[in-house]
Amino acid sequence: MTVAAFAAALLVTASTTTATPAPAQAPPAPTLRSLGDAAGLRVGATLEPGQIGSTHSEVLAREFSSVTAENAMKWYTIQPERGRFEFAAGDAVLAFAEANGQEVRGHNLLWAQDQFTPAWVRAITDPDELRAVVHDHIDAVLGHYRGRIQRWDVVNEPLETLGTGPSDSVFRRVLGPGWLAEVLRYAHEVDPEIEIWLNEYGTDWVPGKHQAFLAVVRDLLDADVPLDGVGLQTHRLSPDGPDRATFARQLADHAALGLRIALTEVDVATAPGDPEGPADQAEAYRTIVATCLAQPACEEVTTWGISDADTWLDGQGILPAPTRPLLFDEAYAPKPAYDAVAAELAAGRPTGGPTSTTTAASTTTTTTTTALGAPPATPVAGAPSYSG
Ligand code: XIL
Repeated sequence: MTVAAFAAALLVTASTTTATPAPAQAPPAPTLRSLGDAAGLRVGATLEPGQIGSTHSEVLAREFSSVTAENAMKWYTIQPERGRFEFAAGDAVLAFAEANGQEVRGHNLLWAQDQFTPAWVRAITDPDELRAVVHDHIDAVLGHYRGRIQRWDVVNEPLETLGTGPSDSVFRRVLGPGWLAEVLRYAHEVDPEIEIWLNEYGTDWVPGKHQAFLAVVRDLLDADVPLDGVGLQTHRLSPDGPDRATFARQLADHAALGLRIALTEVDVATAPGDPEGPADQAEAYRTIVATCLAQPACEEVTTWGISDADTWLDGQGILPAPTRPLLFDEAYAPKPAYDAVAAELAAGRPTGGPTSTTTAASTTTTTTTTALGAPPATPVAGAPSYSG
């Protein structure tokens, strides 16, 4: 008997002696990642290097297709002192994402808020010197990640947090109002392959901020400044947000300019002890995700964290803690908000345009005036303490 015939005989024996067929394997449960892939939407979350190897990173690999470094690629981590470049934290985040077949959103090259810009940069008053320092930083970061990170929030938060004017950053003070266009052009010049994004806070609920941000991007496009997309952070300080139609119109305004859209930092805070909190939050998440799915230009929904145990909000003193703003509870169990997001992803992108059968969130637009929090306790540390 040849080896092949022997093997075939064995197989026959095996199959004929098996009394009952093995029970069919249950199909793997869908994840946000698999549902997002099917719907054509990146679903992301944040990562700190210290979270690699924890439940956080397990859930991140399973449930999410995109990763944003919560702090590891920011200026205060990468170049805490002039000329001292620290890529280890960012590299760890990138290596994790690559190992898990995930995309990385580069966040961010410049943050137009002084409290998040290292003191040594803030101290510069000479435009030529600041320009050289900005160029060095962009050269170093884009050079280091060339070919591995395509999508960059080149400038974060060009507008003031709770107003409609430009943020008062060292970049604007020293380089002048043209600094934004100048920096976007420079990043494109350094690596023409990257996607150039602007990322902004609170455009969905700070009064007048959507129109102000739209005017900024329109001016940039009119001046032929390279700009591929807008990141709308979508941090909600309560489940009350713009209603579905208002949010959809905001996305449509950017799409009409030919821009791509990502919801880059979604979280929905709840009031401690509010019995309606989890349900209201689920509806807010449902509306956010459904609105993105209904807008063909909207390609990503990233949540700013995974577990309620690790939210930046509770570390900043902005709102009474615990705010429980994320999709998973402190023990990494999926919350009603998770189910709402999964259901919307499973329904996919509607063919009939930006209206669907889903419930809209509250129609009130919050006018909360709480200021955004303080800078990280140790601005030069890659991983702030709250994330463990
Ligand atoms: C936050 C991080 O979550 C904190 O750990 C850090 O102390 C400060 O920055 N808008 C942004 C994010 O664009 O980068 C911020 O992340 C949250 C607000």
